[in-house]
Amino acid sequence: MPAKSMEELVALCKRRGFIFQTNEIYGGLQGLFDYGPLGVELKNNLKQAWWRSMVYERDDVEGLDAAILTNPEVLKQSGHEETFTDPLVDCRSCNSRWRADHLEKSACPSCGSKDLTEPRPFNLMFKTNVGPIDDGSSFAYLRPETAQQTFTNFKNVVDSTSKSLPFGIAQIGKAFRNEVTPRNFIFRVREMEQMELEFFVKPGTDEEWHQFWVKNRLKWWSKQGVSEEKLDLYDVPNKELAHYSKSTIDIMYKFPHGLEELEGVANRTDFDLGSHTKNQSEFSIKAKVVKNSSSNAKLAIQDRETKEWIVPYVIEPAAGVDRGVLAVLNEAYEVQELEDGKERTVLSLKPHLSPIKAAVIPLKKNNEDLVSAAANLKGELQGLGLGRVLLENSGNIGKSYRRHDEVGTPLCITLDFQTLEDQTVTVRNRDSMEQERIHQKETSAYLQEILK
Ligand code: GAP
Repeated sequence: MPAKSMEELVALCKRRGFIFQTNEIYGGLQGLFDYGPLGVELKNNLKQAWWRSMVYERDDVEGLDAAILTNPEVLKQSGHEETFTDPLVDCRSCNSRWRADHLEKSACPSCGSKDLTEPRPFNLMFKTNVGPIDDGSSFAYLRPETAQQTFTNFKNVVDSTSKSLPFGIAQIGKAFRNEVTPRNFIFRVREMEQMELEFFVKPGTDEEWHQFWVKNRLKWWSKQGVSEEKLDLYDVPNKELAHYSKSTIDIMYKFPHGLEELEGVANRTDFDLGSHTKNQSEFSIKAKVVKNSSSNAKLAIQDRETKEWIVPYVIEPAAGVDRGVLAVLNEAYEVQELEDGKERTVLSLKPHLSPIKAAVIPLKKNNEDLVSAAANLKGELQGLGLGRVLLENSGNIGKSYRRHDEVGTPLCITLDFQTLEDQTVTVRNRDSMEQERIHQKETSAYLQEILK
């Protein structure tokens, strides 16, 4: 049985050290979470899988890691100052605030009153003061998407890598939104992480590339263990499109709280590069850009054959890391009924996402010979560079197996007294629960096979 409710996932995450409420000892801070010892591994593994598929497995994509604090002019030209808003209403009875488009039957979710103010736009961007004088004259925004920092680096990347169209720039990093109603655990948060690719193409080829990236991303999610039947596509209607988008296909996932956006794949046209380009009239920019930019850049690329300067169109697959973590946890979580009537909780994560790849367990706690042999084996397996290998010196094999099932460790390796004589160990597979006796020399190949 997959996770029945968000509560079950939240409980597992806290119990096993995946995700904690931030600043919990002070009552927390709404819409913010911390990733614990296993959560950070899972999150890093998901990001690595994205980076591998976007950057290493392609030769037409380069990486970037840009600043979070952003010059306000960037977000003015990009249209975010004016349009990156949610409709906000106040309840006149209990003074609570809500997103107008999240209300059911136009009633306050807190007290049920229908005495609400008219919706008004609320800008979602966080501001912070820059430098020692705090009089509002020098501020920066915390970026609301990684994308703008990619666009403003367009020329730097083109000049330093000699790319020609089509090509992309990939970035993973934090983004901040002052969500009116953060909710559903890590689904809607105020500080999140995004994995965004800006893929630059010749105008006219954009629709074809848009389709390409939707298919590519669906395949990738399925490789992360997200089942196809829980995914859906939503062709965003014109009235719901972001200000920069010609068309957007949202990849939707059946989260425990309902079918919601996991990733958006947008055709941003030449809106952003056009908006950040000076002397816009020199180029054939098709999108209605914000206004003549005060930047000193020409965010265009010269066609090698025609020598014409082109402001490329952008196809943008933009995924949330936190929503990705929630989806893969939801997919992997299972409470199984065993033949002996007992239950076991197991996280059947794809092994490349598992926080711990293998646990090496000496049968007897603190037995010097066994622990030393286990430490040697752990060192050897850790040296393969496949991810974290843990020496588990608890002395309780049954408990260790249960714990590692629950955190998704694909392989447990037990050393017993026979190991000291003939160097054989017992390997136990998380999914089949089958145990096998093999020579410890074979464990490297065994683990590599699991992680293939
Ligand atoms: N650069 C385009 C962009 O930011 P978006 O649809 O607003 O587009 C992209 O965001 C992805 O970021 C979403 O599909 C979602 O996975 C994630 N995301 C957006 N807002 C979020 C929030 N408040 N909490 C968690 N993830 C969020």
